[in-house]
Amino acid sequence: MDEMLLEIKHLKSYFFTRKGISPAVDDVSLQVPKGKIVGIVGESGCGKSMTAKSVMDLLKYPGRVAGGEILLEGRDLTKLSEKEKRKVRGEDISMIFQEPMTSLNPVVKVGKQVREAILNHQKMDKAEAKKRVIEVFRQVGISEPEKRYECYPHELSGGLRQRVMIAMAMVCRPKLMIADEPTTALDVTIEAQILKLIKNLCDTTGMSCLLISHNLGVIAQMCDYVYVMYAGKVVEQGDVFTLFDHPQHPYTKGLLASIIHLDELPERLSTIPGVVPNLMHLPEGCAFCSRCSEAMECCKTKKPELHDLGNGHVIRCFLPAEREAAHE
Ligand SMILES: Nc1ncnc2c1ncn2[C@@H]1O[C@H](COP(=O)(O)OP(=O)(O)OP(=O)(O)O)[C@@H](O)[C@H]1O
Ligand SMILES: [Mg+2]
Repeated sequence: MDEMLLEIKHLKSYFFTRKGISPAVDDVSLQVPKGKIVGIVGESGCGKSMTAKSVMDLLKYPGRVAGGEILLEGRDLTKLSEKEKRKVRGEDISMIFQEPMTSLNPVVKVGKQVREAILNHQKMDKAEAKKRVIEVFRQVGISEPEKRYECYPHELSGGLRQRVMIAMAMVCRPKLMIADEPTTALDVTIEAQILKLIKNLCDTTGMSCLLISHNLGVIAQMCDYVYVMYAGKVVEQGDVFTLFDHPQHPYTKGLLASIIHLDELPERLSTIPGVVPNLMHLPEGCAFCSRCSEAMECCKTKKPELHDLGNGHVIRCFLPAEREAAHE
């Protein structure tokens, strides 16, 4: 059994708007073992980023965690004080986003920004901190680190900026890195380098990673375990081989079928007909029902619970139970 670093249990993160409640994350349970890479995949708007932001306590009003637990080594992060949360964000968990330009301060040299990240959380003098920055720059494959230290963000390429962000995320040696579409803004060659870097850092430092992507190719190449989300819920989960070799949920099958057509529809998961339903007006039954090629009568009126297929492979669908019933 893997030792768990992060355990999300029955997380609910809702938006409380004047028009109604939007259940962006609805009863999501997810586990990240130590040293492993866990992926979340799904179409746009299914709740991937909201799940990540809940862990980092970065939900913006009117969104907030409305229920559930987020355990980091057994400690419930939702119960911490602001001060304790800040400490967790600085020392235990760090997050990298899609567009590094928005996370970097354009008027401060990148080296200094990373140095500040150290000084905010660790007792170290400036000279020592600078040394550590240069060391981490080297570790994340930034060539001529002393020279790059003095650069402003706009003087660096997109790939280098993302390396700076990864360096910033790594300086305090976090236990968990949350990477939300970390390479979506980069071209394919640079993307491959950055992904290799993240995997390498996990392998060599024992860090865990929660990797969010709408790209199944990225997930397949990087992850040990995968969670597929749809309309705020986990609809399938399993280890990466099971999930890609034996997908069971019609949604996962649809997503996988769409990568085969990648040359026609690059990067788009649009071969499943129809659209994701509006979260404020979810159908009575299964949220995927109207798009599902295998939908049955019960799917229109009842919401499927998670069904355990064994060996950590779980799906939210009536099909397995139906099949079992048919064989009895
Ligand atoms: N300010 C808001 N008010 C109400 N609902 C919101 C707000 N922001 C986001 N949501 C809801 O949260 C849902 C989940 O959004 P989230 O950002 O987690 O999606 P995602 O899976 O990360 O998508 P993407 O692939 O596009 O990044 C959205 O579908 C939307 O309905
Ligand atoms: Mg997102």
